[in-house]
Amino acid sequence: MQQDRLWNEWHPVCKAEELLDDPKQVYVLGERVAIFRNEKGVHAFKDLCIHRGAALSLGKVVNGNLRCAYHAWEFGCSGACVSIPALPKGRPIPPKAKATVYKCQEHLGLIWVNLDDDPAPLVSYPEYHQDSYHTAICGPYEVKANAPRIIENFLDVSHLMFVHEGLLGDEDHAEVADYTVEFLDNRIITSEIPVYQPNSDGRSKGGYANYVYEILNPKTVRFTKTTDDNDEEFTILLAVNQMEKEKSQAFMLLTRNYDLDKPDEPFIEFQDIIFNQDLDIVESQKPELLPLDLQAEMHLKSDALTIAYRKWLQELGVENGTSLMEKAPQL
Ligand code: FES
Ligand code: CO
Repeated sequence: MQQDRLWNEWHPVCKAEELLDDPKQVYVLGERVAIFRNEKGVHAFKDLCIHRGAALSLGKVVNGNLRCAYHAWEFGCSGACVSIPALPKGRPIPPKAKATVYKCQEHLGLIWVNLDDDPAPLVSYPEYHQDSYHTAICGPYEVKANAPRIIENFLDVSHLMFVHEGLLGDEDHAEVADYTVEFLDNRIITSEIPVYQPNSDGRSKGGYANYVYEILNPKTVRFTKTTDDNDEEFTILLAVNQMEKEKSQAFMLLTRNYDLDKPDEPFIEFQDIIFNQDLDIVESQKPELLPLDLQAEMHLKSDALTIAYRKWLQELGVENGTSLMEKAPQL
């Protein structure tokens, strides 16, 4: 069940601007996938040609079809083969000549792939579409860990003062005030959590910021930071693709309603530093699969959000210690 739930989630696989004329190879839940773009939009196939098993992603997009690099069979976006150059004229294309099609969407500046026939809804991120906000995309960050470990790290408040000392936290302000965690509108949301920030977004402005975290689905989370003294809002949406067992990639959408005329680079570079500070820790964590048995670890009240994440995964049917990778696609 939970496997189904994770299995039917959308996985972000690349920035939309990186999928242009040529197909690309990506991995989702251990599956090798070819993505490509034509005038109708973006498409995903199992990255395997039915003829002799070559990777379709090595091919080209020709007349809107994906043409295999090996013997130039062409597959239309429905997956049906439309051309086999070696077939003498007049001979029909065998109906079995097909590519396996997966769901693929362009959304929030990213390309998303879903291996399931009954996909979960795409994540909603209203700020992305509003003129008063601007979004910069960072990543993909490759991580040798499973997606829930990356998500958990993002939701963890009490590490900010140590792992990100001097940037997102200050060791002398390490206490975490009590906060509430609510399940509301099919997502988990916290109350405002005040965190002292020496340099909250790279602009070297110290002070308290209020973090509100939300868990939108098992692999997509966000927080919004505000301060009491102005209307500035800074939001990060984190979406993780579980590429293979113990290998994931993370994309972050950095959204702000200030400095709209300023370049994105300083914001992205700052986030690159922050992500790198977390990387060794996340890759070191054991067990590799997030423990859902609450007795297996120690918890503090300040961990309420990461406890809620564990409980939600459990409610979705995730069994403790099971891999996200165990359900094979039904082909
Ligand atoms: Fe793709 Fe032959 S392997 S056309
Ligand atoms: Co961190």
